[in-house]
Amino acid sequence: MGGAAVARIRLAETDDAEAIAAIQIGAWRAAYAGFLPAAFLDSLDVEQRATQWRGRVGAAMRPESPTFVALDDTDAVRGFAHTGPVRDDDLDPTGRAEIYTIYVDPGSWRRGIGSALLEAVTEHWAGTDVRELVLWAFEANADGRAFYERMGWQLDGARQVDDFGTAHPVEVRYRRSLPG
Ligand SMILES: CC(C)(COP(=O)(O)OP(=O)(O)OC[C@H]1O[C@@H](n2cnc3c(N)ncnc32)[C@H](O)[C@@H]1OP(=O)(O)O)[C@@H](O)C(=O)NCCC(=O)NCCS
Repeated sequence: MGGAAVARIRLAETDDAEAIAAIQIGAWRAAYAGFLPAAFLDSLDVEQRATQWRGRVGAAMRPESPTFVALDDTDAVRGFAHTGPVRDDDLDPTGRAEIYTIYVDPGSWRRGIGSALLEAVTEHWAGTDVRELVLWAFEANADGRAFYERMGWQLDGARQVDDFGTAHPVEVRYRRSLPG
């Protein structure tokens, strides 16, 4: 059972959109059931999400906001990360970038895929003027937060409240300086 470790990472192509959407939805359901409404998680639809991802991963989106996919040794997508300019009004966008999403197929957790994706994002921004990365995580996402903290990310104190109708989970912001 479970997926193999990551064999390689490459930029996402339009054809990866469905796999990306399926991993995103699977990871949300596996990781967020404790604090997001079941009705919301049940309503997530791979085709609908895949349509969004087709728009995001097209060549026109690079290198401004690239998406990276992690492939196993059968070339199946096991995880992805989407990064780009910071969206927060309180942060000077100069010298900063954001990781919008990073998800690994739940059958492949704890095999180093998430770390490999973070490394690919870091390498992408190294050599540009970006000196700091930021990201938002659900406060209740203890596992995801343990992952980021293990990778050297630090809370910066910023918080925001999301609206999922019947639930209003808090998100917390993390930052990490790029080496060098
Ligand atoms: C968070 C996530 C991206 C991590 O990906 P991953 O491939 O499982 O992570 P890695 O195997 O690279 O983990 C590296 C280290 O991070 C830490 N870590 C990872 N998952 C952890 C967990 N569930 N609990 C505690 N520590 C964890 C460990 O120290 C781990 O090293 P180890 O396995 O040798 O102990 C993945 O679990 C995921 O998609 N989770 C659901 C969605 C999510 O939370 N995404 C982040 C959105 S904000």
